[in-house]
Parts: sequence; structure tokens; C-alpha cells
Amino acid sequence: MKKKLIILVLFILGCSTDPEDCAGVFGGTAIKDCNGVCDGEAVYDECKETWELIQNDIFTPQCVSCHKSGTYFAQLSGLVLTADSAYLQLIDVPNTNIYANNEGYVRVSSSGGIFGLNSSFLWEKINALNEDHFHSDHPYYGEIMPLGAYYLTNGQLAIIEKWIKEGAPEHSVVANPNLLSDTTIYSSPEFVVLEPPESGYQYHLGPFNILPQREREILYYVLPQSTEDIFIERVQISMRPGSHHFIIYTFTDEISIYLPEPEIIRDLHDGFGNYKMNNLLPMLFHKFITGTQWPALDYHFPEGIALRVPPNFGFDLNAHYINYTDEPIIGEVFMNIHTTQESNLDHVAEILFLNNVTFSLPPGEVTTVEQTYLFDEIIEYSNLSTNAEKLHIFQLFSHSHKHLIQFDIVLFDNSDNNELIYTARDWEHPPILEINPPLTLLPNQGLKMVVTYDNWTDDSLKFGLLSEDEMMIIFGYVYTE
Ligand code: HEC
Repeated sequence: MKKKLIILVLFILGCSTDPEDCAGVFGGTAIKDCNGVCDGEAVYDECKETWELIQNDIFTPQCVSCHKSGTYFAQLSGLVLTADSAYLQLIDVPNTNIYANNEGYVRVSSSGGIFGLNSSFLWEKINALNEDHFHSDHPYYGEIMPLGAYYLTNGQLAIIEKWIKEGAPEHSVVANPNLLSDTTIYSSPEFVVLEPPESGYQYHLGPFNILPQREREILYYVLPQSTEDIFIERVQISMRPGSHHFIIYTFTDEISIYLPEPEIIRDLHDGFGNYKMNNLLPMLFHKFITGTQWPALDYHFPEGIALRVPPNFGFDLNAHYINYTDEPIIGEVFMNIHTTQESNLDHVAEILFLNNVTFSLPPGEVTTVEQTYLFDEIIEYSNLSTNAEKLHIFQLFSHSHKHLIQFDIVLFDNSDNNELIYTARDWEHPPILEINPPLTLLPNQGLKMVVTYDNWTDDSLKFGLLSEDEMMIIFGYVYTE
């Protein structure tokens, strides 16, 4: 019924595609758009309302997998973007993110113009071109959307921008649908040399060479620069292109005699797949601090929270580069550790680390492996304070290798309504899930990994450090109470 009405209205407005109508104004190719306005540059190929186009061509395929009712992602963000409710959930509605509300944003403002655009949190959340400003000026705005996937194309962004500037109407054509044909995607700035932090430490790895058609994975140990606990509130990483990952580790107490020499580049293999056992061994005692599979990272811990790192060991820096070209490339990484004082903090964060090493994947089969960690096991395996009564988890992500099909994490409480809280389908860029307010785990609860792999090889696969092996790991940050 509604649909018929819209068509009728458009008809009355004169949805003409006759070039003659506007030829006198703009010349031969110009036509009237769906509002009956002559447009010299744009040739609107159909009278599709802009909001309908945004919903059907952008939100439904790229956002709804998470933003639909019933998912944990929808619960966290408080935002459902399915066609039945998206418009009502967006226009002039306050955000779930309180920091954005405090700074005057609504989800999508209907005020129009630049003011409307600059008051729309949705625009901040998707505008990848603004990535740098987003992360450095708004530490608590979460991630750029869509989470854990490629940014929207410049064409999709242009349509949404125009729509918001036109007051975000539900029923009119306010943007040229042909904008969608620009399918280029913003990519992060190639490589920036970071300014050292005001309070904290800077480390610089490289430059080092990666030969043509080779991989290079190196480790580099730096000594602690403090004799006391440090409290990390922000980490910035910037890498030259070609990196597969960069991870900052420290060590567990068991490392003893295997502690590597500081400030020497240790290659994990010789470039032909022959591993150097001496350099592999210390990895068994690694304790993950932070890392990224993107060329740049700027992570702030939530307000009032910082990660405690004791002075027992320094950092073992791990860079992995892959050179698919026929020329040598150069690897280089800058990393800033910003620290704060414990007296500034409401909570001290610790690392959640659950590593299932006991699975086996038969050859030529798709296999789903489940592994449950009860409250006490999470405390034990992650080395958290043993008298904790509550675990507040505020960041979660998975790690696996290339045979992954899907990595789910389920909140487990011995009842039947276990809740799915995390899904990753891209092993290279698993979504880093910020959970705000944190997910609180009680002693009768736990986390269950449900992980599906496709072992297309002729050999069975097991846990291992090499890229041909598999992994099944949950990383996260937690504070206890
Ligand atoms: C992989 C899951 C996932 C996908 C895909 C995804 N989102 Fe989100 N979205 C989240 C999560 C989780 C949050 C809350 C954390 C945050 O803000 O970073 C969120 C928050 C948001 C918010 C802030 C809501 C508020 O009121 O604070 C907006 C706006 C948003 N998403 C828009 C989008 C749009 C538009 C797309 C598609 C282009 C998209 N998201 C795709 C998971 C996802």
C-alpha cells in the first residue's frame, strides 16, 4: 500500500527520463531527476529513493549480519539495521555510545547541511577517510564500521554523505545512484613515522629487507625500561606495507635460560621454510600484549583502565612480512607505548589468553572443534588474580590460521540458552570486539569456542606455530573484581 503511494507521488512530481526536457538548460545529455529537477552532470538511471538504496544496497548486505535483532553485536551497539526498523533507529535518535552523545551527536541528524553531517555519529563511524582523526581524537568511539571488514567504498560513502546533508529523508531521491559506481576503497596512509609519546616509550624495528617472493618473520627483544610495573593506556603501531602481522609479547616466568639476547634480529626461518629451533623455542613462553594484522593500530584502553605490565621482562617484538613481488621490499615498524600512573586508574587490566592446543583436524574434512573454559580455568590459564569473583571482559578477538571457516565464542552457563558473543570468518582480519559496558562473567559461567576448519590438505592438522599448522586462540583484556 505504502509502496503504491510513493510511486504515485513520484509520478505526479514527474519522474521523467526524457533528455529533451532539460536539454535547453544543460545541453543534450541532461535529464530531469526524480524530483523533476534538471541535473546537468548526473544521469539518474532510475527513480530509486536514496534511503531505499542505502538500505538495500549498503546496510542489508554489509551491516545486517551483525546489526539484526537477536545478535550479541546488536545488543552491544543497541542498533538494528534491518529494513523494518533501520530508519526509525537512526533519525535523531541518541547513540548507545555515551561519549558520542556527550559530544552532541545523534545517530543521524535530520538537520541537513554540514551541521547535520557533523552531528551524525553514523557518519563518524563509517567515514574511513577520517580514520586518523577518528582514532586519535575520539579514543572511545569504538571501531570504524563495518567492523572487521573492508571499509565502505568511496561511492557508498558519497551517497550516505549527500543523503545526510539533504536532511536524511525517507522518501525522495537526493543523491545520484551512479555515485555507487565509484568502488574505490580508502586505504590507510602507507607508512608514518610516529612521534614519540609524551609519557611512555617508543620502539623502532628495522628497516630490514625481505627478498623477492619470500616471507620473513623476525623477533626482536627489548629490555624493560622501568624497574616498576608500567600501566599502558594506549598503543600505536605503524608498519611499512607488506606486513602480515606485528605482535608485542612479553614472557612468562618459565622462560629462564631461553630468554633471548636483547636487540638482535632473530629470524624464525631461513626463508625457505627451514625453522631455526633456537629462535622458535622462546615463543613457547610468549605472553601476548597487543598486536595487529592491519598496517596501523591506535588502540586506547577504555577511560580509567590501563594494562599492567610487570618489569620482570621487556618486550619481544614480532614482525611477519610477506613479499609477493619480484623486487626486495623493506620492512619497518614504529611502536609507541603510552603509559599512565596507577593512581589515575579505576581498574587495572590483565590479559585474557585461552589457547586450545589439543585439537586435531582429519585430512580432507570440515571439522568443528568445541572447547569450553569454565570461570576457574579462565583464571588459571590466563594467570589472573585467583581471588576474583567477577571477570569483566572488555575486548575479545580470535586467532587462527588459513583453514578457518568460522570462529564463534559462546557465553556458557550450563543452561540451554548459551549466547553467541563473537563471530569471525576472516582469519586474517578477525574483528577486534570492544565490549562496552564490559561482559561480566560470574563463577558459574564460562566461554566456549566453537571453531570450524576446512582441512583441504592430505595430512591431519594440529596446533603449531607455523603458518601451515592451525591455531585456536582467544585473546582479550579483562579486569577482575
Ligand atoms: C562484525 C559485526 C559488525 C558489522 C558487520 C557492522 N557493525 Fe556496526 N557495530 C558493531 C559493534 C560490535 C558495535 C559496538 C562497538 C563499536 O561501536 O565499535 C557497532 C556499533 C555501530 C554504531 C554505533 C551505534 C551507537 O549507537 O553507538 C553504528 C552507527 C554502526 N555500528 C553502524 C554500522 C554500519 C553502518 C555497518 C555497515 C556498513 C556496520 N555497523 C557493520 C558490529 C558490527
